[in-house]
Amino acid sequence: MSLSSPFDVIVIGAGAAGLMCAAIASARGRRVVVLDHNDQPGRKILVSGGGKCNFTNRAVTPAQYLSANPHYATSALKRYGPADFLDLIKRHRIAFHEREHGQLFCDNSAGDIVAMLLSECGAGGAEIVLEAKVGAVTGDGPFRVATSRGTYEAAALVVATGGLSLPKIGASGFAHALAGRYGLSVVAPRPGLVPLTFTGADLALMRDLAGIAVPAEIRFGKARFREALLFTHRGLSGPAVLQISSYWLTGQSIMVDLLPGQDAAARLLERKGQRPNAQVETIVGELLPARLARALAERAGLLGRPIGQSTNAALAGLARLLSEWPLVPAGSEGYRTAEVTLGGVDTAHLSSKTMAAKSHPGLSFVGEAVDVAGWLGGYNFQWAWSSGWVAGMSV
Ligand code: FDA
Repeated sequence: MSLSSPFDVIVIGAGAAGLMCAAIASARGRRVVVLDHNDQPGRKILVSGGGKCNFTNRAVTPAQYLSANPHYATSALKRYGPADFLDLIKRHRIAFHEREHGQLFCDNSAGDIVAMLLSECGAGGAEIVLEAKVGAVTGDGPFRVATSRGTYEAAALVVATGGLSLPKIGASGFAHALAGRYGLSVVAPRPGLVPLTFTGADLALMRDLAGIAVPAEIRFGKARFREALLFTHRGLSGPAVLQISSYWLTGQSIMVDLLPGQDAAARLLERKGQRPNAQVETIVGELLPARLARALAERAGLLGRPIGQSTNAALAGLARLLSEWPLVPAGSEGYRTAEVTLGGVDTAHLSSKTMAAKSHPGLSFVGEAVDVAGWLGGYNFQWAWSSGWVAGMSV
């Protein structure tokens, strides 16, 4: 293996955070090389947002991020926020549109974002080396990175290899392992923004309803999300479920409200008085899809029963199913489908001003590799841009 010409900065990972970091550092005149084991840069960007990349959100605050240190992201998000990324998008004349909850997507393709980042890297002269299987990393400013494409050496090393989500397109635990080798602890990673799975009677019910989507509010502890819920063959999905999955803790129940903002109990009693001969599932079917209404009436033991012949206690039980349905997930679909990895390199070891390890100033961690994970809605890419930018300004 030959030792390639010296660079100032080695970035491992040609994803969102790594490319942003390389673009900014190279624009500052730093000689940058980006190494990635994939044969294509930005693969996760390309599959994001259904191919349209939800690249940021109009309303980004630290409150939309999960981390053992909720304040860690504040500085980077302030220094390089959604407006800054939008300026870049506009400078590259990328057409975009806004969807609900302030989510911004490309009009054409997520490929526009990758092309923009590559063009910024190219303008600064950053070199991108693909299909580079990274082996041993040694040293401590200078760092030496042995790869299948040669050995690279530089005073600064930025680790931007992301989290564990979607292993089939190149995700790896590289950052966590490397952090460990340099004495930095890692907050235990787990899948986030992921469909939840169920077993037993709950799964049987959900399977029967697979494909049905309804607006719902889902709560876990203090977290609550009011968005769509989707029944699937394995359990529950949809934005509300993905969001709550990041907060849910194994073994505990989530609370599902299928009629958010409505008083289900009052509604059932009112109908009991007005239309006593109507069957319970017919009444519930006026509020929810018919198949779901039948399944819930059955679960409450009221299927086929005229509402007038249902006791108030039984109707109260049904109302609880409608608006406070406690469900205990068996697990999640895991990294195979998770949009993000919770946990990661412990921010206690990192400077929020530079992303560098306090004990190893030449070694920085950015993006999803770090213990900062955002909500669904463009927040994870914004963290990648913000943390990548900060590191790019510091290396
Ligand atoms: P990212 O994963 O982008 O990049 C890491 C890079 O490191 C990759 O190029 C990888 O090949 C490389 N790498 C990994 N291990 C390596 C190793 N050992 N050696 C060399 N290279 C290595 N977020 C959002 O805000 N809006 C959205 O629309 C979506 N949509 C979405 C869809 C899907 C299906 C997923 C899985 C995720 C999303 N996300 C998202 C999340 C978002 O994609 C994610 O948070 C960012 O891409 C993280 O950026 P990073 O640069 O940290 O990692």
